[in-house]
Amino acid sequence: MSKSHNVWVSRPLFPEVLDHLAQYVGVQAEATERKHTAAELREKLANVDGAIIGLSDRIDSDVIAGNRRLRVIANLAVGYNNLDVPALTAAGILATNTPDVLNETTADYAWALLLAAARRVSSAERWLRAGNWRGGMRFDDWLGLDVYGKTLGILGMGRIGQAIARRAYGFGMPVLYHNRSRLPEDIERECRAAWVEKDELLKRADHLMLVLPYNAQNHHAIGKVELALMKPTAVLVNIARGGIIDDAALAVALREGRVAAAGLDVFEGEPAVHPALRELDNAVLSPHIASASADTRRAMAQLAADNLLAALGHGPDAGHPPSLLNPEVRGGHETKT
Ligand code: DGY
Repeated sequence: MSKSHNVWVSRPLFPEVLDHLAQYVGVQAEATERKHTAAELREKLANVDGAIIGLSDRIDSDVIAGNRRLRVIANLAVGYNNLDVPALTAAGILATNTPDVLNETTADYAWALLLAAARRVSSAERWLRAGNWRGGMRFDDWLGLDVYGKTLGILGMGRIGQAIARRAYGFGMPVLYHNRSRLPEDIERECRAAWVEKDELLKRADHLMLVLPYNAQNHHAIGKVELALMKPTAVLVNIARGGIIDDAALAVALREGRVAAAGLDVFEGEPAVHPALRELDNAVLSPHIASASADTRRAMAQLAADNLLAALGHGPDAGHPPSLLNPEVRGGHETKT
């Protein structure tokens, strides 16, 4: 049966989510994972009413110029620095993301990186796998840093930052945070977190986690100057976005012992990783997988599909995408045919 709308899915997705989409709309889904060029995106989007796209696909005014058909871009991520939302809004195209469903999983992963970097889990495993554990081992080998009881700093205190803070109670860690706007008192109480200025946070945190959105203001929010304020015994964790840390400056600070260790899930220009970071044993590196639990990635895919369908007027949320980034388009987009 022919469907009234056609959509494009830019990366391989769970089959059950594609089946769900196909109940309502014609679906063209990519079978292999790759970054699309602007020209490819322009061509793909010219022939569909909506698309689910991944973080490596950049949707800007150039890509949507002259597109008279596209009504919705559903981003397969909570962060949407790959979307030019003002350009989409100006073109009358709805934009959505996948908030909330990944908060707890991503917070778990931030702790995994903190613990792994502080206690040298990755380098110890590499050493063991290389067959180095033969005779006795010195009592003072593999000394790491304590996490329990230390002061946790969180830069960026949205919903993921708050989920990280709530876990700190179990580790007996006081929490300091900095956010552009201070949280309401009841949330601060629930998170047992105290607001401080950014410099104070950098100076006082025993370990620091970054949970900022990436935008022009947050580019290199942690650079040479900020790293110099941190304690030399601190672990720095970034689960937010590449570009928030100046990776070259961090590599120097880690090499010189001015910051003890880092747990990094995101990188400037990923999938490229600064070569100096790859050399360092005190950096735990992972390929942007903080939200990658089976349940959470399914929930993200399902939410992106729900957003897409709702924007096109299908399914239980018809007309009301659950996580709309540019509600000001509503009303206007109906005129696009
Ligand atoms: C997000 O959702 O923004 C994550 O970084 C991608 O999993």
